[in-house]
Amino acid sequence: MKKQNIEKQNVKNYWEDKTPQTWYSNKDLTQSPVSWFNELSYKRYNVFYEYLLDVAEFNYHSGEKVLEIGTGIGTDLVSYAKNGSIVSGVDLTENAIEMTKKHLQAFNLKAENLLVADAENLPFKDNQFDLVYCFGVLHHTPNTDKGIQEVIRVLKPGGKFIIMLYSRGWKHYFKRLFIFGLLKGYLFKYGYDKTVNKTTEVQGDSPLTYVLTKKVIKQIFQSLKTESMTIRRYRLGEFFDYAPYNSRKLPGFITKLFYFFSLEKLLGENYIIKGFKSDENNKRNFNQKHSVWQVLWDEYKNYKK
Ligand SMILES: C[S@@+](CC[C@H](N)C(=O)[O-])C[C@H]1O[C@@H](n2cnc3c(N)ncnc32)[C@H](O)[C@@H]1O
Repeated sequence: MKKQNIEKQNVKNYWEDKTPQTWYSNKDLTQSPVSWFNELSYKRYNVFYEYLLDVAEFNYHSGEKVLEIGTGIGTDLVSYAKNGSIVSGVDLTENAIEMTKKHLQAFNLKAENLLVADAENLPFKDNQFDLVYCFGVLHHTPNTDKGIQEVIRVLKPGGKFIIMLYSRGWKHYFKRLFIFGLLKGYLFKYGYDKTVNKTTEVQGDSPLTYVLTKKVIKQIFQSLKTESMTIRRYRLGEFFDYAPYNSRKLPGFITKLFYFFSLEKLLGENYIIKGFKSDENNKRNFNQKHSVWQVLWDEYKNYKK
């Protein structure tokens, strides 16, 4: 993967200043933390990331040790904790960890570990967690490969990972490259990498955002010991621009048509990567594919027995 030469400190400064999702509400956090966080969660799961309730498996990991890398304001970590997971979280910024603490406190929940830490160098021993969850984070860190290696390192053998990375959906080509890149001249002024950095985030001007292809993701995972991995696209980018309280959404019939023709799988802007760390003592290969003839022949042999 072609890397950009950006200092981690720049990434930290950017996110320290722009804690994600806080603009989902215009209520006052200090007056009623519960209703503020509730509004943020509602918007996350019912407006902006409807697919997450299903994909993040919040209610399937009770009693398990779950690590979230890049907690932001902690909405997803709190959802795991509400469902009985033993949660730990890290984020590069002090602000995000403070917010996540407040979020847990508001619902009388506790984390085992909640630390300011770098995804590329996690402060945990090998083989610790049943689930590592990381949503929209590792494409912002200079060495995405190292971040993914760390996910696998801290997972127990047989443990599960759920990772979201940006993919090149239709909006990448239309909004970022055509409108901003060509029509507004960003590509000529800044080149490809900076054009993408400048146009990916709601608040704009991200110091670093990799928008990946499936091929590159497969290459990153190639040398890691994983099983039953799937890479699927989600989120059609119907929010063409979702600046705070000024969201511009495509007309409903267009979105419906997109979904009707299953275009999300082709044009979605998020890759959800799921799989397990290999466990030599307990192989699970849910996704292994066989030829039609193999399936029929095996059935025939079993039937004859
Ligand atoms: C787009 S936000 C996503 C936050 C949260 N997961 C969510 O979905 O709202 C990116 C987050 O990743 C964090 N981050 C970026 N690079 C990181 C790194 N190397 N280690 C840990 N956290 C990082 C940022 O501080 C920020 O909170």
